[in-house]
Amino acid sequence: MEPISPLPQHVAIVMDGNGRWAQRQGKPRSHGHQAGSEALRRAVETILERHIPYLTVYAFSSENWNRPTVEVKQLLDLFMKALTRDIRELDEHGVRVCFIGEREAFSRPLRDGMRRAERRTAGNNKLQLNVAVNYGGRADLLRAARRLAEQVQRGELRPDQIEAKHLAGELFMADIPEPDLLIRTGGEQRLSNFLLWQLAYTELHFTDVLWPDFSAEHVDTALRDFARRERRFGGLGQVQHA
Ligand code: IPE
Ligand code: IPE
Ligand code: MG
Repeated sequence: MEPISPLPQHVAIVMDGNGRWAQRQGKPRSHGHQAGSEALRRAVETILERHIPYLTVYAFSSENWNRPTVEVKQLLDLFMKALTRDIRELDEHGVRVCFIGEREAFSRPLRDGMRRAERRTAGNNKLQLNVAVNYGGRADLLRAARRLAEQVQRGELRPDQIEAKHLAGELFMADIPEPDLLIRTGGEQRLSNFLLWQLAYTELHFTDVLWPDFSAEHVDTALRDFARRERRFGGLGQVQHA
């Protein structure tokens, strides 16, 4: 098979459709989240095989607290399990795991688990996996704005000196390239408050496939779709000048 080129350096995924996947089989939504965590393991494997250095996944949004308490609890229990079971495997595969989002909202054991996972994998460099938990794009921007205001207040920065790089540098995901490709499964065509700043020029790929069904072939379909895109960044690209 033809190699896919160019490949994105950073892929972001809104992993949506777990609940509907379960409901279609007459099972509880938690069954879908369980299957969704398996789909994530497969996706990480495929992204590693394609030598893509950055993957950012939306696991729990700042609005997902609006779900019934039992579902939130099931999701958090699932994270806790993943933190103990999957981290070892990710570490062995050279994956560096980072969490983005407001982790203060989580229980002490969960926060400790996240910190341990980050420390354990900090030296790995095959793939950086950013897991967005209690993440919201607006909250990310608000937090960055507050931090810049504090720098101004301390006299370290003047308001007229603030540039895009200052704001970008205060976001949860500072210092890594912005996503080239965003995949959203589950059929909805919206961002749902994911990386609002960083997605400004990202190519968007929407698919009806529900997240638990997302396979290596679906990853490749998205990568091929990306390879066909012409990115212009507001310029003229390959278009002939008149
Ligand atoms: C995505 O699947 C997982 C999370 C948001 C945590 P959903 O749970 O949103 O599944 P649907 O969209 O209801 O099918
Ligand atoms: C987005 O999915 C968040 C995650 C996948 C974690 P949602 O299911 O929460 O999004 P909406 O509610 O359909 O916009
Ligand atoms: Mg959903």
